[in-house]
Amino acid sequence: MYSKRIIALSNLCSGDYDMADIGADHGFLSILLAKKYPNKNILAIENKKGPYENLLNNIINEGLINNSNIKTSFSDGLDKVDNGYKCIILAGMGFLNIKNIILKNIKKISFIDEFIVDCHTNFFELIEFMKELNYSIFKIQILEELNIIYFLIKFKKDYSNVNFFEQISNYDLKLLLKKYNNLSNVIKEVKNYTSFNNSLLEYLYIKKVNNL
Ligand SMILES: C[S@@+](CC[C@H](N)C(=O)[O-])C[C@H]1O[C@@H](n2cnc3c(N)ncnc32)[C@H](O)[C@@H]1O
Repeated sequence: MYSKRIIALSNLCSGDYDMADIGADHGFLSILLAKKYPNKNILAIENKKGPYENLLNNIINEGLINNSNIKTSFSDGLDKVDNGYKCIILAGMGFLNIKNIILKNIKKISFIDEFIVDCHTNFFELIEFMKELNYSIFKIQILEELNIIYFLIKFKKDYSNVNFFEQISNYDLKLLLKKYNNLSNVIKEVKNYTSFNNSLLEYLYIKKVNNL
């Protein structure tokens, strides 16, 4: 039931806060989080009828419906998220959708301490966008499952991070190279974004690649 990606996402959540899973779909991540962090509240949010019904059925089938720490909401993005939820999960979505969800309720970032994001497009643009909102990379995990390469990132507010390429492991770097085909494609992509310190980045990247 739980894919490698879902397990990795649950591991990125520290369990320090109540968590809202936006776009919960089948609810597998929300269910895993509710079991893993019994003392935290999980809010599973979905805005489409079919997936929302699946979500409810899966929660019932797991026996979690009564007196459980998991609640559901049939609503859009962050609309129904209150200030009890300081950890927000946005997984399995494209960058534009993620950006729109955050911008629609931009005032709510005042209480959100961490975002766990699995963004399927424009990975480096996402990092730049989050940086503008004062969220830095706390942890990155790049993983491959069924021939798809996923970028999972935990962002934290007001966290001063070290350089991106210092943070990722050699294994992550190999997957990054695989995703972009070669070194120069990654550097070209990164150079579109000013929040990356390009020369340092290039230096670190080449140094790391040479050490693989
Ligand atoms: C590809 S699924 C990913 C499901 C799950 N988060 C995962 O990572 O396995 C994306 C889900 O997000 C939902 N979704 C997209 N935009 C949304 C929004 N603004 N508010 C709530 N749900 C949304 C979709 O209906 C869909 O069920």
